[in-house]
Amino acid sequence: MTDSAQTLPVPGAVGKLYDQLTLNAMKDGTFNTNVHIGYWDSPDSDATIEEAMDRLTDVFIEHLRVDGTSHVLDLGCGVGGPGLRVVDRTGARVTGISISEEQIKTANRLAAEAGVADRAVFRHGDAMRLPFPDRSFDAVMALESLCHMPDRQRVLTEVGRVLVPGGRLVLTDVFDRGPRGQARHPGVEKFCRDLMATMADLDDYIGLLRRSGLRPRAVLDVTEQTTLRTGHELLRTAHPDERPEAMVESNFAFSDDAFHPADLAGVDTFGCLLVSAERP
Ligand SMILES: C[S@@+](CC[C@H](N)C(=O)[O-])C[C@H]1O[C@@H](n2cnc3c(N)ncnc32)[C@H](O)[C@@H]1O
Repeated sequence: MTDSAQTLPVPGAVGKLYDQLTLNAMKDGTFNTNVHIGYWDSPDSDATIEEAMDRLTDVFIEHLRVDGTSHVLDLGCGVGGPGLRVVDRTGARVTGISISEEQIKTANRLAAEAGVADRAVFRHGDAMRLPFPDRSFDAVMALESLCHMPDRQRVLTEVGRVLVPGGRLVLTDVFDRGPRGQARHPGVEKFCRDLMATMADLDDYIGLLRRSGLRPRAVLDVTEQTTLRTGHELLRTAHPDERPEAMVESNFAFSDDAFHPADLAGVDTFGCLLVSAERP
């Protein structure tokens, strides 16, 4: 299934959803500066979920190849955890953009608290229409944000426009890993419905990058290292007396039937891609 066969997210509504998730997380004590899955290098890695979340950002840093002279765009920056880590680890300047005003307020507060407000700036905006001139970034990163955008092709074309020639893009995205034509797992359906997301098509990703004017470098299936293991860890660390719904990210639960990350535990058709490309 491609974007066009799925209910397309509406950016304004996605912004309101993330406003609510951010406020809920602050209230119920589940606030995390990383709003993404973990990355475990190998099945026997004993990294905690927190360590694995930071590891995902570090994998991005390895692919981005930026330094203290670089300006990085964080597309769908959340509350700034990954962007602040890039500043800390590489010395690069980071500009983040999110469709959620609450996330942007929080990210700028965290940058000020970390004393890096001069190197990390977060602003409200829509990735579908980037408010930046052509060729204004040395690299672009997008951790788990494209799935919420209604037109991947348009976003990637915008990325190509704002990158300098030779500039790199690194992203993670979710994709349908099941056999073509097979009905989706109910957990995947709930994820798309409640988190306003669509699943990418792996077979089309290279074409998508090329049609956006980007040169693909790698399109990797990292499901085993990321989504599958994240689901496993959420189940493993749940308190035995708690129902899965009461686990770590309880802020997703708006109604009894609402999506919860545990809905995806063990679902190996919920795929995750790590994509790297560059502007020629
Ligand atoms: C799963 S969160 C990931 C946040 C962050 N990348 C991280 O890893 O912590 C998805 C992010 O995409 C952002 N987003 C979704 N649609 C967007 C759009 N059209 N324009 C800008 N940001 C968008 C959301 O506001 C949210 O910050």
